[in-house]
Amino acid sequence: MEIVINDTPEIASILASDIVEHALTAVEGLVLGLATGSTPLAMYRELIRRHVESGLSFITARAFLLDEYVGLPNDHPEAYRQFIAREFTDHIDLPTNGLRSPDGAADDLAAAAQDYEQAIADAGGVDVQILGIGSDGHIGFNEPSSSLGSRTRLKTLTNKTRIDNARFFEDDIGKVPRHCMTQGIATILEARHLVLLAFGEAKARPLALAVEGPITAMIPASALQLHPHVTVLVDDAAASELSNADYYRETFEHKPRWQTF
Ligand code: GLP
Repeated sequence: MEIVINDTPEIASILASDIVEHALTAVEGLVLGLATGSTPLAMYRELIRRHVESGLSFITARAFLLDEYVGLPNDHPEAYRQFIAREFTDHIDLPTNGLRSPDGAADDLAAAAQDYEQAIADAGGVDVQILGIGSDGHIGFNEPSSSLGSRTRLKTLTNKTRIDNARFFEDDIGKVPRHCMTQGIATILEARHLVLLAFGEAKARPLALAVEGPITAMIPASALQLHPHVTVLVDDAAASELSNADYYRETFEHKPRWQTF
């Protein structure tokens, strides 16, 4: 696991964009895994900027969302599919049919979850998966106690997550759905490169538990320790509870040229 501590979220977001740009040029038909939430927004803005100003192209890429609310109509502005279109994919040249998301409005949700797993497999798996971390240590919407072997399925959101996300629903927790469909932890771990972003003090504790604590279903992001290729890009505030922070800083400072992302 490579942990890179940056002065600001903007610098971390530039590094994350570099990873995506490098992958786009290195892998024909790149499969991107996209996260929602506020954390990756600066990275999405930077990638849009590179598309507009330098012609960075996503034309041969495909993208899969991590998760989706259940109980919102597909066209609800806070449905994650709408969110990612508004914040990112509508502003680049990703083909319209190149974006897939779990169908949280399907009549048969269990079948929709299986279809989603199949779609990811049919695409050859995810090459680069962008991740945020919830204040309770979740990734995607895999709440504490999620099986580390889980696949795409329905989950119930914790009240903590609903409170955290109420800001997207006029600060009214009553409007935040109780259920979601999310890629499972085992699904996420199959992506070839995981890029976890965490910014701000509120993420310091869950981040430290995830990267330095024991692997436990109670901190779903700790499962990343099992993955052979993880890049963790954080700002100083999110790094404030890491006990090994000096080592991570020194490692990055002396990173040899041959050690690429
Ligand atoms: C949300 C999403 C996650 C996201 C996390 C953190 O509920 N399901 O994919 O990473 O919680 O959100 P934020 O980046 O807004 O802090």
